[in-house]
Amino acid sequence: MRSLIDIVDFTGEELDALMQTASDIIANPDKYAESCKRKKLASLFFEPSTRTRLSFEAAMLELGGSVIGFSEANSSSASKGESVADTARVIGCYADIIAMRHPREGAPYVASLNAGVPVINAGDGGHCHPTQTLADLFTIYREKGGCDNLTVGFCGDLKYGRTVHSLISALARYKNVRIVLISPDELRLPGYIKKEVLEKYGMEYEENASLEDKLPELDILYMTRIQRERFDDMEVYERLKDSYVLTAEKMKSAKSDMCVLHPLPRVNEISVDVDSDPRACYFKQVENGKYMRMALILKLLADKDVPDPRRAEQMVEDGLLKCSNPRCIVAVEQELKHQFKCTDKEKGVYRCVYCDAKAK
Ligand code: CP
Repeated sequence: MRSLIDIVDFTGEELDALMQTASDIIANPDKYAESCKRKKLASLFFEPSTRTRLSFEAAMLELGGSVIGFSEANSSSASKGESVADTARVIGCYADIIAMRHPREGAPYVASLNAGVPVINAGDGGHCHPTQTLADLFTIYREKGGCDNLTVGFCGDLKYGRTVHSLISALARYKNVRIVLISPDELRLPGYIKKEVLEKYGMEYEENASLEDKLPELDILYMTRIQRERFDDMEVYERLKDSYVLTAEKMKSAKSDMCVLHPLPRVNEISVDVDSDPRACYFKQVENGKYMRMALILKLLADKDVPDPRRAEQMVEDGLLKCSNPRCIVAVEQELKHQFKCTDKEKGVYRCVYCDAKAK
């Protein structure tokens, strides 16, 4: 079964299909009102959230399903020392799908290995936040008519801002996207993302410390909050926290159709005098996020029988996959080793080398 841990778990075609479904949900909400009847979403939030948690819950309710869960670690048995793996295994007995936010990077992936139901990463530490990326992409798509041929500026905390990391990875799937990275030296984009995404996919990019200098070039400005909760040294946070403030005055030098995005919550990096500017799209982004989460829930529940590519690789390594064909020679000749070839790496499809049936 599929989970969504990192935005790269989905192909560009799958991202586009999710946007088509989200557009159809907006146009025909009644068509989807009972799509998840008798299905339950477990909303497991070990860290604070307003938008992600409530939009997942609203999404499931609007699909006719129901919601169980908790909104802080202290109200779960994690506070008694229960592991993420055990928690996931237990919740998988109650729910059809899980949305999990956790301060530990990789925790939702561990959950996906143990839950027996699809797991959605709703933010893991400073690592990834793929469903915010779905909201960001859909907003770009709706405002710009597509995600190709754009200059996208990321401004603020590019080191700890997990939404930045996920969106850059997603934009690598589109054509002719130029990236402008605007941050103080201490909060630059991690080197591994430059190497493994920007350089690997040949994306044009530059780093610059001045928002004012780069603003006139941008089609999209993605502002971010300086992530106080990720700093070990509060003095460094205090020094950097007001590095960038977008104001109505600064917006005068931007393109007339530039689009300002922010994953929210904001602190003071976007002045409230920008809110009434038609180019301010951050509240539209919030609403778009709910529709994309609805589309995502539908996809993961429908893809129940599609193997998770990450999991499949591990199971091949561990020798846990079996041929699904009862007529295959390996079903009767016990001494034969089950062996597989990968026929679709992105979807994690493995086929038996003897009979070509799918592995299970
Ligand atoms: N954008 C976002 O993740 O907001 P929350 O922390 O409120 O969920």
